[in-house]
Amino acid sequence: MDISVLGTGYLGATHAACMAELGFSVVGVDIDEAKIAALSAGTTPFYEPGLGPILRRAMDNGRLVFTTDISVAARATVHFIAVGTPQAKGSFAADTSAVEQVLRALVPHLEGDHVVIGKSTVPVGTAAHLQAMVDELAGDRANVEVCWNPEFLREGYAVQDTITPDRIVLGISQPSSPAREVVEKLYAQALAAGTPMIVTDLATAELVKVAANAFLATKISFINAVSEVCEAAGADVTAVADALGHDKRIGRRFLNAGLGFGGGCLPKDIRAFMARAGELGANEALTFLREVDAINMRRRDHLVQVVKSVCGGSLIGQNIAVLGCAFKPHSDDVRDSPSLAVAGALSLGGAEVSVYDPQAMDNARAIFPTLHYATDTQEVLSGADCVVVATEWPEFLELDPSEAATMVRTPRVVDGRNVIDRQAWLAAGWSVHALGRPSLEPSSS
Ligand code: UGA
Repeated sequence: MDISVLGTGYLGATHAACMAELGFSVVGVDIDEAKIAALSAGTTPFYEPGLGPILRRAMDNGRLVFTTDISVAARATVHFIAVGTPQAKGSFAADTSAVEQVLRALVPHLEGDHVVIGKSTVPVGTAAHLQAMVDELAGDRANVEVCWNPEFLREGYAVQDTITPDRIVLGISQPSSPAREVVEKLYAQALAAGTPMIVTDLATAELVKVAANAFLATKISFINAVSEVCEAAGADVTAVADALGHDKRIGRRFLNAGLGFGGGCLPKDIRAFMARAGELGANEALTFLREVDAINMRRRDHLVQVVKSVCGGSLIGQNIAVLGCAFKPHSDDVRDSPSLAVAGALSLGGAEVSVYDPQAMDNARAIFPTLHYATDTQEVLSGADCVVVATEWPEFLELDPSEAATMVRTPRVVDGRNVIDRQAWLAAGWSVHALGRPSLEPSSS
């Protein structure tokens, strides 16, 4: 079975390489020439642990090629859509124009039977609309079936999540749809290993994806709202989360309070979900997601205020070291990154901000060229009046607080992710601050 993957970003490039790893012959297509040139040379244009080796293996054994020429994709019979659906300018809705464009470019080249498998996150109703569009474009030349197979991969674990997903969701237009058999063949390995497959209609499959991301976002904002109350009451949000997490109905994952969520998915997906519910007349159903969004955005301002107060009430002339600017560790993605937003706000507030991230420096520099980008942890800490842990990379968690104390001007740390060993930092002479937890001050003796 020959496969095309349309769109070679974080999702598409990983999916193309993983499908080739599973033994299929794959062509990855993108309009971005620089991206295709990099992938064709066997390099990943973004940081994703474990992707490089499987990409090169697939290319070496001839199972994976990349091109900007979409007509090459017409030789395949299965076409995955993996293009972006960002937030539309001036609205909460998702911009699905890339999904439409890629099908408008592909379908005129097709003949015979084809299956289009959508993976991009789209508003409910998109797949049905695309089927009608594709039918018109295909005419009598081709029979093209559109189905939807939402993607649940996490950046940083994309390879693992693609090869061994925790579930496979497939939306099809009719129960007898031939797409089901095609998808079962594609995921035969995961299915044989017992991965559950949930087959639904198109709308349900589209909704599963946005509902999953909305739930995760809500869980994070819930604990961050509790964090605000903890601060007011002098309680400790991490202890609350730990205790809640023992209840299996709640679970501890995604209950890490701190700077909140960012990235290319959760923020825009909750907004698009609200916008679509409104279009469908279910306006009131998701108004709580506005609050989820607002709680999340407040985290960034709050962290800036905490840093300001820790620095004595003014940021002017303060050297602030920001550890991390990716939206989360194990990624170089800075789209809607809370860490980078905080670094930018501190700088605009008058601080001298120095940033270091193990992977995201180039992407950050492109967005915020005016910040100082240090070459390593030692440089970023050097002369700092306050250290902000903004993205919880392992190397920041492993910092030796005694050594770090010798590099800074004033040993103050603000843990924006509630991840450092507070007692160890306190014992090394640091004043330790966090979101949702009482501050710790070293005794003056
Ligand atoms: C998210 C979902 O987790 C994936 O299942 C989904 O496939 C993907 O979006 C997508 O729609 O493509 P991802 O954006 O890679 O994946 O990132 P997450 O691991 O979900 O983290 C999102 C944000 O939440 C990060 O900024 C992270 O720092 C933050 N977070 C996460 C918290 O603030 N607290 C937590 O407890 C967990």
